[in-house]
Amino acid sequence: MKSKKITFPLNAWYAIAYDVEVKHELLARTVCNQKIVIYRTENGNVAALEDACWHRLLPLSMGRLEGDEVVCGYHGLVYNASGRCTHMPSQETLNPSACVRSYPVFEKHRFVWIWPGDPALADESLIPDLHWNHDPAWAADGRLITVKCDYRLVIDNLMDLTHETFVHGSSIGQQAVAEAPFVATHGERTATVTRWMEGIDAPPFWAGQIKQGLSYEGKVDRWQIIKFEAPCTVVIDVGVAETGTGAIPPGGNQGDASMSNRTRGVNGYVLNTITPATDGTCHYFWAFARNYCQAEQRMTHQLREGVAHIFREDEHVLEAQQVAMDEHPDHQFYNLNIDAGSMWARRMIDNMIAKEQTI
Ligand code: FES
Ligand SMILES: [Fe+2]
Repeated sequence: MKSKKITFPLNAWYAIAYDVEVKHELLARTVCNQKIVIYRTENGNVAALEDACWHRLLPLSMGRLEGDEVVCGYHGLVYNASGRCTHMPSQETLNPSACVRSYPVFEKHRFVWIWPGDPALADESLIPDLHWNHDPAWAADGRLITVKCDYRLVIDNLMDLTHETFVHGSSIGQQAVAEAPFVATHGERTATVTRWMEGIDAPPFWAGQIKQGLSYEGKVDRWQIIKFEAPCTVVIDVGVAETGTGAIPPGGNQGDASMSNRTRGVNGYVLNTITPATDGTCHYFWAFARNYCQAEQRMTHQLREGVAHIFREDEHVLEAQQVAMDEHPDHQFYNLNIDAGSMWARRMIDNMIAKEQTI
């Protein structure tokens, strides 16, 4: 029998929930094939425990909270927020091995992050930078969708936005995206794909944004700067500016993006972090942040709904792709120029996995 290929590293922070999802109640979620139950304690901290009772493995998420402790819904064993059993029915002495695994968790950038690997390596400084999600200079909101595909297919999708032309033709897609040259670069843990488009007609979505934000109608310079951070976070700097106002840095795709003057533009960040649930399903957390009309809550809501609609088009493609891949497990894939960004991303993921196998 062929041994199953490992598709994700365990020593990494993964988003397990949006902050608002975690309440003083039990929430079951699978991350990296591990069943986990999370809840907020009464002082607002987040606890994450293995979702299986030490006694007979009933999922603890089927039990209930009593204060900060979880009571198993079968025979009533009680566990504290660190996973230690504090009560057993009908006996005074507690078996010293009675505990369930507790996971390192950390709340940052509106997500609850969990570390499914070796807890000794859980360094909070490794949590990806998604500060636009709560920075007052930006207005942001997003959603979680659970997609029936390998999380790496979502990363492939985000690292090559050529697909906008074909999948999102009615909103952000346009021929210019598929035609404009791009540059792919990489660091040790990051891969970046940069694409500037000069003097083009804005696609419907961006035409609407720059009209609302700056009352401008006309040709634009458009950019997409996609940054992957291993193993599963993709931040995309997107936007349009009045053409010729200095948004495109000297050198274009090869230039320094920090030299981009965007005062006559509207800027968004598409924040994506994709957590493997199982080998064939993932939790896809996304948000859209903008730096114009920040006080307009109506716009934040409308944008979230609009982007959700765009992402449903991706979901449709990704799930169909996964079905087709499962039907052709030995199919050999060839990479095109447009796949450069995702090739780097996959190489970094593979390196992280390989490193864990040799420890
Ligand atoms: S299975 Fe949990 S107490 Fe028995
Ligand atoms: Fe897409």
